[in-house]
Amino acid sequence: MDVIILAAGQGKRMRSVLPKVLQPLAGKPMLAHVIDTARSLEAGRIVVVYGHGGEVVRDALNAPDLAWARQDPPQGTGHAVQQAMPLVEDGGIALVLYGDVPLIGAATLRRLLAAASEQSLALLTVGMDKPTGYGRILRDEAGRVQRIVEEKDATPAERLVQEVNTGILAAPVARLRQWLSQLRNDNAQGEYYLTDIIAMAVADGLEVITAQPDAFEETLGVNNKTQLAELERIHQKNIARRLTDEGVTLIDPARIDVRGELICGRDVEIDVNCVFEGRVELGDGVRIGANCVVVNARIAAGTKIKPFSHIEDTVMGEACIIGPYARTRPGTVLGQDVHLGNFVEVKNSVIADHSKANHLAYVGDADIGQRVNVGAGTITCNYDGVNKFRTVIEDDVFIGSDTQLVAPVRVGQGATLGAGTTLTKDAPAGQLTVSRARQVSVPGWQRPEKIKKS
Ligand code: UD1
Ligand code: MG
Repeated sequence: MDVIILAAGQGKRMRSVLPKVLQPLAGKPMLAHVIDTARSLEAGRIVVVYGHGGEVVRDALNAPDLAWARQDPPQGTGHAVQQAMPLVEDGGIALVLYGDVPLIGAATLRRLLAAASEQSLALLTVGMDKPTGYGRILRDEAGRVQRIVEEKDATPAERLVQEVNTGILAAPVARLRQWLSQLRNDNAQGEYYLTDIIAMAVADGLEVITAQPDAFEETLGVNNKTQLAELERIHQKNIARRLTDEGVTLIDPARIDVRGELICGRDVEIDVNCVFEGRVELGDGVRIGANCVVVNARIAAGTKIKPFSHIEDTVMGEACIIGPYARTRPGTVLGQDVHLGNFVEVKNSVIADHSKANHLAYVGDADIGQRVNVGAGTITCNYDGVNKFRTVIEDDVFIGSDTQLVAPVRVGQGATLGAGTTLTKDAPAGQLTVSRARQVSVPGWQRPEKIKKS
């Protein structure tokens, strides 16, 4: 089975410089959704038909398992499929999909494919109360499909038909090649209609078998940003439904956005307005507070992320307490029971078990041992304006508030840094190191008085 994905339409109504099929749905181009669905069907070849300016599409999504056929100018859906045919293998079935129909599901397509054979063509149809704009499925008295008529070519009586063509079909390749070569464009739109192959199949004695999608929205196409936003909501609702079915507690299933893969253990709880991007794994009992953004992260069991935290390219151990208002940037690796409090930023650093930075700190390019306390306002000065250097803080160190560690610098095991220290040399283990001017009090000192202007 080979898949042909039509993606040559210009998509002017998106009013965007980005080609329509590259517009993201759940953070991924619409066309990539369709390609991934085709892949899940174990397609032989996947041929994408792209149009004028479509090199951007090809460059964005190219992969070794894809073939590309150019259609320029577009002359209809039949003409589009024709462009793909030199790349399609004889002897099998061709499945036609659309780059702007992103929610089509693999289960639906498997049922459709099961109905296609050398002797039959399978067509995905839906019933619609208001079928305006769609091709109508015309059947004989016995209910057998005879042909499809496009809205613009239909008689008033034909327009009353409520069974419509979704455009998705599966047909035997050798026959399809033959039918496509016979298409004509003497119709209302002057286009080569793919839908005209239905009557040809019937004339050749093939059975046209119709199938319906598992869910109606699988067949919805996107022509403008309003429809894209509608599909985004439908898709997010489906993801939320899958999560709650799996046992995840979503405080409000309508207020979560998953733009990638979210894998959850047991008893995970996610509060409202969280966004997950890339691949995110949440272990058993993880709780994510309201308004968090979590990108490419692995968060182990029992860890709690409090509201308004931003987690990116981070690995967290078990039973950590993060936030509110914490930010972990790429390369953050936390052990178990690490606490990061409000306005703490961590980047490219390893923080070992039971260490804490609870308030207002910047930890960048640092290796922090176990049971370290990083006081409020502590900053690793990792950047001299040209190069970056590491800070090493060994186990059981206590760092007083408002300390600056000018990297490269090392703080030995069990050392204490006095509050306000600017550390420019290594601090020895087990000792107090403090660098600040001695405190003086000046007896008899008086505040200056305001000078009177004359
Ligand atoms: C088509 C069907 C119609 C069906 C409807 C479902 C035909 C003749 N009609 O109509 O029966 O009810 O879809 O939405 O097939 N495309 C190309 N190259 C072209 C023309 C189209 O790649 O030359 C692509 C478009 O990008 C789009 C898809 O094919 O993804 C459908 O094209 P569109 O013009 O929207 O078809 P409709 O007229 O809506
Ligand atoms: Mg059209």
